[in-house]
Order: sequence, then structure tokens, then C-alpha cells
Amino acid sequence: MYTQLEQRGAPRPPVNMSSLHNMKAANEKIAWLTAYDASFAMLVDMAGVDVVLVGDSLGMVIQGHETTVPVTMDDIVYHSRAVARGLGRPFLVADMPFMSYATRDQALGNAVRLMQDGGAKMVKLESGAGQLGIVEFLASHDIPLCAHIGLRPQSVHKVGGFRVQGREAEAAEQMLRDAKDLQNAGADIVLLECVPAALGAAITEALDVPVIGIGAGPDVDGQVLVLYDILDLTPGRKPRFTRNFMEGASSPLAALEAYVRAVKDGSYPAPEHCF
Ligand code: KIV
Repeated sequence: MYTQLEQRGAPRPPVNMSSLHNMKAANEKIAWLTAYDASFAMLVDMAGVDVVLVGDSLGMVIQGHETTVPVTMDDIVYHSRAVARGLGRPFLVADMPFMSYATRDQALGNAVRLMQDGGAKMVKLESGAGQLGIVEFLASHDIPLCAHIGLRPQSVHKVGGFRVQGREAEAAEQMLRDAKDLQNAGADIVLLECVPAALGAAITEALDVPVIGIGAGPDVDGQVLVLYDILDLTPGRKPRFTRNFMEGASSPLAALEAYVRAVKDGSYPAPEHCF
């Protein structure tokens, strides 16, 4: 039974938490990408992406909202199921949407739903000091967890925009403390969004668990970007940290392969993508 779980039809064994830890230990950069449907999931898998995130960014790039706040549990479950059908090797992480983890019992029920109905192997929640109890509670039930800190898009209306976080010394120290506390509470992965590269490096150095960055500089254990941004499918101004991998690529698959290569060889992110 366990062999089946690990080798189901895949020429390379599926990624799991222990392979992600081994990659951190071996200094092999981890390539994450978002996906929202089965076709792109297959393409992302073929390109060699290690981890696929069904992000609540789907509210913006799929549903056309201005923020991720309107995204519901039903939305994430629907997209996660579709993505799970398309994946072989990558590890599947699904986002807990806005207000789906306000209490311990609600968080546990929704995390279980993402794993049982959505096919996710890990759930991600935007976390700060206020979510420590929730993280501890989910971890005590063996729910694999990614804690998302730095810029937390679900709090956009509270913080007043999509802004770089942790620029001031005091805020940076608080974020480092939060990251350690979340790891100690049971987070298996920490995801850092929009923070100065030096803070990304300091948090990665301080933690045993893999640290994944989006706009957090090159010295983290891996990178994640929004699929539609790197394939240049989203019109309008893009965040500074993203890169259009369709430039010079002959097909979407070639662009995705170029992304994986650039993450693995450290050429992405370049200084112009960092804060
Ligand atoms: O929702 C999402 O896609 C995310 C990534 C941008 C990290 O949280």
C-alpha cells in the first residue's frame, strides 16, 4: 500500500515533506508555482515544478476580483480537485481562504475538507502571532501546514494596500520572532511574501523548516510565483518580484521549464526582482 502511494505511475517519486526537507539540507532550491485547473497542473508537472499551490490568488486571476477576500472554501475545493486530477509528482498545497480559520474548530473542519475533498496534501494559512493557537491546534491533529507571513493579501484592507512588509528594524524583528514561533507551533513550511531580501535570508537561516519566498529575495529555500503572471496571461502592471517567462520561450511548457531552471540555478530572482 505504501509503495503504491509513493510511486503511483510516476517515473520520479512524488514529492513529500521529507523530500522537501532533503532539498533544503542539500541546498537544492524548491520550485513552487500556483495552478488552478487540471490542464495547467499537468503542464506544471511536466515542467518539473516540485510544489503546486492552489492559491486564493485565483480570486484575482480567475474570478476577476480586486483582492483575494471574496474567495470561498467552495471555490478552493473546486479548483483543488481539478488540480489534483492533473498532478503526478508535485506536492499539492491548498490555501485556506479569508475567514475560513477564524476559530480552531472551523479551521480543523476546513483543513480536513481541503485534504479529503480537495486532494491537498498541505494547507496554507496567512498567519501572524494571532494564528499561533490555530497553527498549534491543526498541527496537533497532524494537518500539514504552511504558514504565510510578510505581506498577507487577505489583510489588504487592514494594512492599506499590497506593500512590502518588514522594512523597519522593529517590524523585521517581530517577523523573525513570528516565524520562529510558527515553526515551534508546528508549521511545516513558512512562506514569506514581499519582504526585504536581507530579512528573507535571516528568517531562512534561523528556521529548520523550508522557507519559500515570493518577493523575499534569493536566499530562501525556494520560490513561488503566480502561474498567470509568469505566462504573461494577466494584463496590466505586475508586481516587481515577478518575471515574464514567456519572453523568449517557444511555448507555455518551455516557459515553465525556464522558470524551474531559473529557480534551481539561482538566476531567478535577480536583483531587480528584490526589495
Ligand atoms: O494565493 C496565492 O497564490 C499565494 C501565493 C501568491 C503565495 O498565496
